[in-house]
Amino acid sequence: MLIYSFIFVVSALQTSTESIPIVGGKPVTRSGNWGIPKYPYMVSLQEEFIIPERESYFKHFCGGTLLNEKWILTAGHCLWRKNVNTIFAIIGHENLTNINPLERLAVDKIEFISFQPGSLQNDIALLRLKHPYRSSLPPQFNFYGKLPHYGMKAYRKDPCKIIGFGAKHHAGLSQDYLEEAEVYVISNKKCRHLLGYVWAPQKGANTVCALGYGQDTCQGDSGGPLICKYDGIDYIYGIVSHGLTCGLIGIPSVYTVTGPYIEWIRLVIGD
Ligand SMILES: *[C@@H]1O[C@H](CO)[C@@H](O)[C@H](O)[C@H]1NC(C)=O
Repeated sequence: MLIYSFIFVVSALQTSTESIPIVGGKPVTRSGNWGIPKYPYMVSLQEEFIIPERESYFKHFCGGTLLNEKWILTAGHCLWRKNVNTIFAIIGHENLTNINPLERLAVDKIEFISFQPGSLQNDIALLRLKHPYRSSLPPQFNFYGKLPHYGMKAYRKDPCKIIGFGAKHHAGLSQDYLEEAEVYVISNKKCRHLLGYVWAPQKGANTVCALGYGQDTCQGDSGGPLICKYDGIDYIYGIVSHGLTCGLIGIPSVYTVTGPYIEWIRLVIGD
């Protein structure tokens, strides 16, 4: 039996800029007179490709969540072996076409915690912006992703949200517009049954599976948030990690759970 898993990161070999996100999702729209973004903390991580004697270009490769004015939460495999000098962050934009070059923010530091690239254990990383992020939103407005409290369980009956600029189908390309969809967190036991023992969360792994009705995360969505509500407040419950394919009915994707890492995160980001 040969099953291969892929991780939801966009390969540098894909050169087309034509692209599409989240399987079965819908575009994220702004609401109200202020045009305030629904997910102001959503980050598009982009890699710069330098071509001699031509303008360099930028390619979305992963999502992320802004946690405070300097730190972005993402998946470990997104940043593994990446050169920090070639990574840029675009924060709070649904539409990635015609981004003002000044809004492409440089980063200067990556932090991992015992990430295992082979097994994708501890698939979590933090990325520091070179300069503090200054939002154009009114200051009373909260534009950071909120971390859950330690031990908070995702409600199994209510759906959680996934958002991303990733592909709309397996092996598809990332796209320029943010989409959102709903998935349900399932038990690790059920996940093992659906996904098989090898790829489902193992004992002690800080991961969880979530399943949608044809809605799923896909390539390019890695590192983005799994957003779950508690008492009406959105929390960054998980991070998009990996899956076997995208959007197949009954095949869940795997997310890193942020809760067990809260202490490490707070230590690194200094909150
Ligand atoms: C994104 O922005 C481009 C350029 O400003 C525009 O042509 C396009 O319609 C926008 N896409 C959406 C879905 O609003």
